[in-house]
Formats: sequence, C-alpha cells, structure tokens
Amino acid sequence: MYIFKAAVVGAGAMGGGIAQVITYAGLPVIVKDIDEKQLELARKHVEGIYQSRVDKGKMTPGQMQEKLGLIEYTLTYDGFDDVDIVIEAVPENMKIKQAVFKELDEVCNPDCIFASNTSALSIGEMGSVTKRPHKVIGMHFFNPAHVMKLVEIIPSSETDQDTIDTVEQFAQELRKVPVVVKECPGFLVNRLLMPYLNEAVICVQEGAATPDEIDAAMGREGFGWPMGPFTLMDMLGNDVCYHVGEYLSSKYGDRMEAAILFKEVFDAGRLGEKANAGWYDYPGGGHSAAVDALIKKLQDEGKVKSGTKFSVDRLMMPMLNEAFMCVEEGIANVNDIDMACIAGIGMQINKGGELVRMGPLEYADELGLDVVLEKLQALEQEFGRRFKPADILVKKVKAGELGKKAKRGFKEYTV
Ligand code: 3HC
Repeated sequence: MYIFKAAVVGAGAMGGGIAQVITYAGLPVIVKDIDEKQLELARKHVEGIYQSRVDKGKMTPGQMQEKLGLIEYTLTYDGFDDVDIVIEAVPENMKIKQAVFKELDEVCNPDCIFASNTSALSIGEMGSVTKRPHKVIGMHFFNPAHVMKLVEIIPSSETDQDTIDTVEQFAQELRKVPVVVKECPGFLVNRLLMPYLNEAVICVQEGAATPDEIDAAMGREGFGWPMGPFTLMDMLGNDVCYHVGEYLSSKYGDRMEAAILFKEVFDAGRLGEKANAGWYDYPGGGHSAAVDALIKKLQDEGKVKSGTKFSVDRLMMPMLNEAFMCVEEGIANVNDIDMACIAGIGMQINKGGELVRMGPLEYADELGLDVVLEKLQALEQEFGRRFKPADILVKKVKAGELGKKAKRGFKEYTV
C-alpha cells in the first residue's frame, strides 16, 4: 500500500515535529487536536523549523510556503475519511490512546493504518479496542523529530505484514532510518536509555555528583554523547521521563526501579525546559538550588543512600547490559540495536577528541566482554541486583567470545 495522505492526532512537540517531517517529504497532512491553543503552538513549532531551514539557506521562502501549505490544522475529524495513515501522538496514557483509536475507527476508511508514537506502551492493547488490530502498529519517532533519524517500528502480534512493509517504506520516504523492533515494554531504545538515565538520577540523589558534573562527564567533551543525561531529560520533559520510568519499573521490576528523586522533581512541576525549571533553572540552564533542596530533604529523611561514588561505567554498564538482554530476547538484531542507538540517541564515543559513532554492542566488544563482565560484577557487588550481568554475556565470556580482541563477541571482526 502507498501512503498518499497522512494525519497526526495530538499537536504537542512530537506531533508538530512529525507533521513537519511528513510535509518536508512532500506529503499532505492533517494535524488534529482538541485544543486550539495547542494547534497554534504546533503551527509555530513547524514554522520555526522551516524558518531555520530558510535562514540557513537550505530552502527558499517560496518553498517554505509550499511545504506549510501541505498542513491542515483542525479540531475535527473532517477529512480523515481519505487518509492512508494516522499517527497518534496524544499523552502517554493508555485510556486516552484507546479512546482516540475508537474514534478513529469510526471516521477512517477500513484500510487506513493506525500508528502510535507511544514511547513505551503496548501496541497490542491499543489495537484491541479497534476493529482493525492487524492495521495497528507502533511508529516511534525520537525527539527532536525533525533531527533524529530513527523511527522504531513496532508490530503487535496481530499486525499484518502488509502494514509492517507499508510503514517501513513510509519511514524511508520520510528520510528516516526504520528499525523493526519486537514488542516489549519500552521497545528497544527507551528500554536501553532508561536504566542509563535512572542511574544518573540515583547518582544525584545519593550525592555522588551534581547534574552539571554528570553532564560534563557524559557529554561531547567527556564520554561523547551529544548531550548529558540531565540536559537530555530537560529537553524531553521530566513528565515524559518520569512516566516512562514508572512504566518500565512496573514491567521490569528491580533492575529498573525508578529513582525516588524522579518523582520529587516531577511533583515539584520541574518538567524541564518547557516549564522553565527542570534539573536546571531556565532560561540559561544553570545549576538549580531548588533541586539541591529536594536532594537534601530526601537525604535528611534517610530515604536514599548517601556518599556513593559516580563513574561513567555506573551509567553505561546498565545500558550495555540491557542491550545484551535485547539480543538474548530477539528484540532486534545486533546491527539494528547499534544502528538504533546511533540514529535515535546519537550514541558516539569521544576517542581522544574524535567523536566516533558506535552502538552499545560494538562498544562492549571494543572494551572486551570479559572486562564488561568484571565491571558489572563489581557494580553488582557494590550497588545490588540492578547490575546483575545478562546470561548471554556470561555465556559469551565462557565461550571465549571476548569481543574485538578475539575477533568475535556480539559481532564478528576480520581485523
Ligand atoms: N528542542 C528542539 N529542537 C532542537 C533542540 C531542542 N532542545 N536543540 C536543537 N534542536 C534542533 C535545532 O533547532 C536544529 O534544527 P534546524 O536544523 O531545523 O535548525 C537541530 O536540532 C540541530 O541543532 P544544532 O545545530 O544546535 O545541533 P546540535 O549539534 O546542538 O544538536 C541535538 C542538537 C540534535 C538535539 C543533539 O544534541 C542530539 O542529538 N541530542 C540527543 C537527542 C536525543 O537523544 N534524542 C532522543 C531522546 S529519546 C526519545 O526521544 C524517545 C522518547 O520516547 C522519550
């Protein structure tokens, strides 16, 4: 099936960004919300992205107007009867998403594909309230949607092959990198990213380091990431991170138990850049005395440990370990896992000042799987079961598949 026309429901930052991506590829799109103000924000967001292309000399004002003319903003479902795909980007709440899908089922033609931009929730559960579960699929964009190349495609057990193929082809047409991922809580990239972000928050609540120190250690000048974990969370929104964290915690238990400070920061309304307050104070992104006070309160009440030490490994090893488990469970293949982390979260390593793009599995192979196993065992001894090494890692080390030095680890190497 070919996509001639699309619709986006939910005009938040992601919905607006996705609409921009669709029009940039030359396709018409309807953007629907229930709130006029939200539609206006989306319109400004999309215009801002195009304006920056014009300012950079990448397109003319005329071309910009042509692209903007492809978007129709609406509060109703008028025009939804002839769209080929709807991408849902409403708040991360299963009841809201199911209600939207039920409405869409009434107004869209029976062949229309329903895609959800959910960060972590079950595609099967969304499909189950429609008369077309075989046409319901996850299509997960990364923030900022117009910049990040990855789109995770998540079929449920009911999704048919034609829908998967169509959405994969559609993502390519949008000039994105599609990676098909087996359904599991958090899918692939958020499942790997959350343990990393959560450990960063645990470090902060235990007084091991401040957000500024951790961002410096993990960012371009340090480990190599395009931005440190706290800057990233403030960009994504601490409401999004908190909800994804709680959801994964409920699904994976101990090893992803959400840091208490996440809830404190969320309850304090420190939702990130959009709220002018997050892990940092905005505008400017400076150190926050209010966050210091939240940490002090938790420590005074004896609710968190104190005096532990921060290390880069403490953040990176849980991410690597989760990647190993994804290989073990067949969530995606080895190459796709690495590519998804490069295209979705910009993973790169600072090698003596040179930033080298590399996914978690190649990074583990480069460190040596025996070395990674030792690091995880030491962290497990110090901090507990959330660092318990994946079975597949233990097996590979026993089999002598130690990574690049053995020419075989998660990948194979000829030199
Ligand atoms: N919000 C929105 N857009 C932003 C932004 C922000 N905070 N920061 C930068 N951008 C846009 C800029 O406007 C620019 O767009 P343009 O080309 O239209 O002008 C573009 O990004 C590139 O910006 P810069 O030239 O300033 O480039 P940088 O080198 O500073 O890179 C970045 C910015 C691309 C955001 C880079 O820092 C990066 O890759 N960060 C990691 C982002 C990431 O990991 N995203 C995925 C998070 S996980 C997720 O989304 C899943 C969800 O379910 C939780």
